[in-house]
Amino acid sequence: MNKTIAIDGPSASGKSSVSKGVAAALGFIYVDSGALYRGITWQALRKGVDVHDAAAVIACMENTDWDFFVQDGAATFSVDGNVPVQELRKKDVRENVSFVAVIPEVRTFVVDSLRALEHFGSLVMEGRDIGTKVFPDSPYKFYLDADPEERAMRRYRELVAAGENEKAEEVMESLKKRDKIDSTRKTDPLTVAPGAQVIDSTSMTLDDVIQTVVDAVKE
Ligand code: ADP
Ligand code: CDP
Repeated sequence: MNKTIAIDGPSASGKSSVSKGVAAALGFIYVDSGALYRGITWQALRKGVDVHDAAAVIACMENTDWDFFVQDGAATFSVDGNVPVQELRKKDVRENVSFVAVIPEVRTFVVDSLRALEHFGSLVMEGRDIGTKVFPDSPYKFYLDADPEERAMRRYRELVAAGENEKAEEVMESLKKRDKIDSTRKTDPLTVAPGAQVIDSTSMTLDDVIQTVVDAVKE
């Protein structure tokens, strides 16, 4: 029987790295739900749509051709035939995605698209509302967390390694802003799902966190 592992948590808590590691260890398909919110944001920005104009964002999303497939062990998608990857991590997308993600119609489209991925096989899905909203009945729910300072430093180091010219204080500010928007929005705010195992990784290694999840799923 297929299994779906839900991994939620705030920005830079380790969701992507942990989910990829768990998917590789168990042979499951890795799903980055945030990528879809980023993809909708990327499409809106490149079409010149104001991300604060919900009706315009919804129209843009509905007029786009979205196609989902599995490649190299990960679920991915095309946007009118393009497969954006690096583009989704850029500053303009990063700074606007939380506004797009508050639009209820956007969330409905993403949630439906994510649920439909189950037909591809067992999944490790990371996001903000996977355990609370997308797959609330999954017996495998995890909430990753770490101190904001540690999370900001992780994101900063990652951006520097990617050659982005960012200041540590600005990364901290941007992370705090996103934490606030994500945890206070009306629709599906970021919160610990009932029954989720909370893992605080502030002083854990990545491998320890992956092993903790793998062990819990194998039990
Ligand atoms: P998220 O998907 O929650 O935004 P990421 O998986 O992208 O977080 O992690 C952000 C950065 O922090 C990555 O560079 C990752 O390697 C690093 N990282 C993740 N978990 C840990 C950990 N437990 N200890 C140290 N660094 C970590
Ligand atoms: O990697 P990081 O945690 O910084 O971001 P992400 O997972 O790519 O998600 C980007 C944004 O999409 C988040 O700040 C949320 O606003 C939104 N998101 C969401 O609302 N629900 C999800 N399941 C996943 C992401």
